[in-house]
Amino acid sequence: MELFQTGTDPWGQEILIRISWSLLTISFWAGIAFVLFHAVYSVVWKPKLVAEGGDVAGAEGIPEKIVRHTGAARMFHWVMAASMLVLLGTGFLPIVGLEFAWLNIHWIAGLILILCILYHIVHASFFLDFWSIWILPGDLKEAVQRTKRQLGQSVDVGKHGKYPLDHKLYHMAVSIFGLLVSVTGLLMMLRIDTPVIPRNDAFFTEGDWGVVYSIHGFAAVLFVLLTITHIYFAVRPDKLWITKSMIFGWVSKSDYLSHFDPNKWKVDSKG
Ligand code: HEM
Repeated sequence: MELFQTGTDPWGQEILIRISWSLLTISFWAGIAFVLFHAVYSVVWKPKLVAEGGDVAGAEGIPEKIVRHTGAARMFHWVMAASMLVLLGTGFLPIVGLEFAWLNIHWIAGLILILCILYHIVHASFFLDFWSIWILPGDLKEAVQRTKRQLGQSVDVGKHGKYPLDHKLYHMAVSIFGLLVSVTGLLMMLRIDTPVIPRNDAFFTEGDWGVVYSIHGFAAVLFVLLTITHIYFAVRPDKLWITKSMIFGWVSKSDYLSHFDPNKWKVDSKG
């Protein structure tokens, strides 16, 4: 299986063009395989695990509704989600054979995604609890406990703060590959005619453009897997309370007490 598409430069030397689109097929089927495996696993295996506790210790003073995502954070999430779906559709549908004028829609959605990311960086740095989503040394214990639990040991993983480890890992992956696809996408705008940046094909050598296209393609392909798994978790019945919080902004007191450690995600009496 080829990992890259290559070509020849005017001097007859072999140069990199982009990744091979067989990686798109692999990413898509890996996403589907993960979903199927997880769906079966969660039915067959999950009941043997230690149930997540729903005790009500620390319930005093907790309101019935707890704000999980502010209006601004929800708006960011949904605009970003829409731009990501448009980018995936315009990027990949022509590759799988659906021909249409995709390029203008693609780079405009790309710029919207980049604006969303910039907005999110400022919002999260100055108005949200910045460290709540990043993997910190304290998460190591949870990682060990979760691994033991996955291996079948009866381990109480305990409750987590605002974001459990799997959400933090997902956020980390999206941050890294989101940054890569955005920076390379901006550079690739130099290769096409837009009213935003004057065209400059000579900005890189042909070989270096190949590296830029390969990074863009690789990150883009990974987003197929990341998006399939994200949507799967969002629509799972046991996770719908999280999805609803991204629509309405709040979680109920009972969900809060069942899933979160009030010492790690502190909530005041106003929620
Ligand atoms: C996850 C989001 C994204 C996905 C899935 C995606 C996907 C793709 C794919 C598959 C291609 C074809 C690449 C090739 O022919 O080698 C492409 C091209 C392109 N992308 Fe993206 N992309 C994303 C984000 C962005 C962003 C943020 C920008 C920034 C504006 C952008 C700008 C471009 C441009 C300008 C091209 C065309 C380059 C050319 O035809 O010469 N993309 N994208």
